Amino acid sequence: MEQNINPATYREIVFFTGAGMSAESGVPTYRGKGGIWGSYSIDEYACQEAFDRNPEKVLGFHEKRRKSVLDCQPHEGHSVVAVLPNAKVVTQNIDGMHQRAGSKDVIELHGSLWRLRCQSCGFRKEDLAESYETTRCDCGDRLRPDIIWFGDMLDAVVMSKASQAIRNCDLFVSIGTSGTVWPAAGFPDLAKQSGAYCIEINPEPSGASEYDRVIVGNAGEVLPELFSES
Ligand code: OAD
Repeated sequence: MEQNINPATYREIVFFTGAGMSAESGVPTYRGKGGIWGSYSIDEYACQEAFDRNPEKVLGFHEKRRKSVLDCQPHEGHSVVAVLPNAKVVTQNIDGMHQRAGSKDVIELHGSLWRLRCQSCGFRKEDLAESYETTRCDCGDRLRPDIIWFGDMLDAVVMSKASQAIRNCDLFVSIGTSGTVWPAAGFPDLAKQSGAYCIEINPEPSGASEYDRVIVGNAGEVLPELFSES
């Protein structure tokens, strides 16, 4: 590779990841060929109104996604990120793949497939099995997937942690995101404004002007090479 990165020369690294990070593990992306939103309508499966109309259908979709993600394994790129001591992950992904690879510091902007939340009392429940153990809260109301659906507000505490991590980093590596969904789409600009060196890894780069270096390629191939010692 043109120029490898020595992680020890950076104080703090933020890996900002999107669906493309999990693509080589077999988890489909949202947009483009084979993308989830090409087969499933957002209005029917990924908004509060859909859940209110037909909770069983929406829960069934999410259970199906849980099963398919459990059949996938983190790849070498996830492992490269997981072993760096000075790295944080800010991810738009809900699949938990970074944690399965061993990353400890993961900020999940869009929630998690592996948590449920009560719409009434706010109770949150971790649930890691293929099928939901229960979708009823002790308070009597339904539990819904703890995911940011279209029209939902992002969690203010999570947003603040993510922004702080990005403001503090001196290396920002964006991987596998189309950069179309806000407010996450503003993070490369925040990193640049805060003085970080910004890299994008994507087989189809976003074209955003914030990046100092754009590497055209797949996460699972580029990351091990970029962070190798030779
Ligand atoms: P997208 O599906 O919009 O974009 C996936 C990106 O990954 C594209 O830019 C691809 O070129 C790139 N890509 C594909 N294979 C790759 C590989 N092997 N290595 C690296 N990059 C690869 O996914 P996101 O940008 O993550 O939100 O989408 C953002 C949000 O939109 C998601 O979090 C989700 C979705 O609607 C919610 O559900 C709230």
